[in-house]
Amino acid sequence: MRTQVAIIGAGPSGLLLGQLLHKAGIDAVIVERQSGDYVLGRIRAGILEQITVDLLHEAGVGQRVQREGTVHHSIELVYANTRHPIDVTGLTRGKVVTAYGQTEVTRDLMDARQAAGLTTVYEASNVQVHEFDGSHPRVTYEKDGKKNEIQCDFIAGCDGFHGVCRASVPRGAIHEFEKVYPFGWLGVLAEVAPVSPHAIVYANSERGFALCSMRSLTRSRYYVQCPIDDKVSDWSDERFWDELRLRLDPDMAGRIVTGPSIEKSIAPLRSFVAEPMRFGRLFLGGDAAHIVPPTGAKGLNLAASDVKYLSSALIEHYAEKSDAGIDSYSQRALARVWRAERFSWWLTSLLHRFPDTAGFGQKIQEAELDYLVHSEAMSRSLAENYVGLPLDFGQ
Ligand code: APR
Ligand code: PHB
Repeated sequence: MRTQVAIIGAGPSGLLLGQLLHKAGIDAVIVERQSGDYVLGRIRAGILEQITVDLLHEAGVGQRVQREGTVHHSIELVYANTRHPIDVTGLTRGKVVTAYGQTEVTRDLMDARQAAGLTTVYEASNVQVHEFDGSHPRVTYEKDGKKNEIQCDFIAGCDGFHGVCRASVPRGAIHEFEKVYPFGWLGVLAEVAPVSPHAIVYANSERGFALCSMRSLTRSRYYVQCPIDDKVSDWSDERFWDELRLRLDPDMAGRIVTGPSIEKSIAPLRSFVAEPMRFGRLFLGGDAAHIVPPTGAKGLNLAASDVKYLSSALIEHYAEKSDAGIDSYSQRALARVWRAERFSWWLTSLLHRFPDTAGFGQKIQEAELDYLVHSEAMSRSLAENYVGLPLDFGQ
């Protein structure tokens, strides 16, 4: 088989890239290790920057997020048992974020890909990338016991943190930066009305961090910080709801609607960046290149901005015969990645209980929260990062 761009991974990064390239008349094949149902079964974050929503429109899949997404104008910070609204829209001259699950983004992109008759190879095993440092890269994989090869111009490594693409780069050519946090997030999805349908709630309590989010007016997503070695089986639904209520202010705690969980999982928190994001004719995008802790809701949005930079670069290559975008892809993408890494690390540090932070660190955290909610300058800094810095920020 021959294609222009071989995309490894059919998560949001790979699917969005495939769609944007298709719109520009560029041929791409996606090779995915799992089945489509497995990919759709992964529950992940669900807050979209306007830049991401705009990209979904550009990819031709914006109708449902427009119709069903919930626009948020503010977030609420809870600490010392008190709620403090941050008027995100007011502080950013009208910007908003949209609650719409990553699962739904993935479903919309999968449907569009299928409707356009584009090739996705699901359940491909032993995927390998070859000769991306020369001019004729290749991808090989096995499917139903048969070996297959794709010849291509470029390979897009959109295969997540544990993918094969980053792992195929010679160790000396890549620099990795990592910070692992000493706790996890226990997340619960439940078919109940959200306690706060108009704002996302971030709580710093002496029992640890908690977050109230939503997928729709009838479906809620909640999280509590938990010890990293806890097991999902340690947390009955009842224990989860009790713990969540204990971390919120009394008014909000009293209004939480509980119900059976339809999904419950524990995720570790990690900051990670691999540099550079291009190796000859291999590009990394999304979780394959970087991970943020979920506190700032930046994971999916960063994947989308990588894909915007990469699709523009490839379109420029084919349509204008210019490699300027390809040559600057890594540097442009990494500039935005590091800004989001900083923001996600900062918000994580501000809102969680750290096992090794005693008296002084705790007091500094309280002073910073107090400064944040009373200073318009600092609130604006939070707000402008939360809605997403412009794609050309600082350029
Ligand atoms: N071969 C083929 N496919 C692979 C391989 C492999 N060796 N390894 C992993 N994959 C697939 C995974 O099965 C997965 O479907 O690559 C896909 C990567 O998808 P994601 O992990 O979702 O990463 P990405 O598309 O970059 O999405 C970015 O946004 O909210 C965040 O972290 C969250 O997943 C999220 C991300
Ligand atoms: C979510 O809805 O899953 C969510 C929202 C905000 C975050 C993280 C996750 O910061």
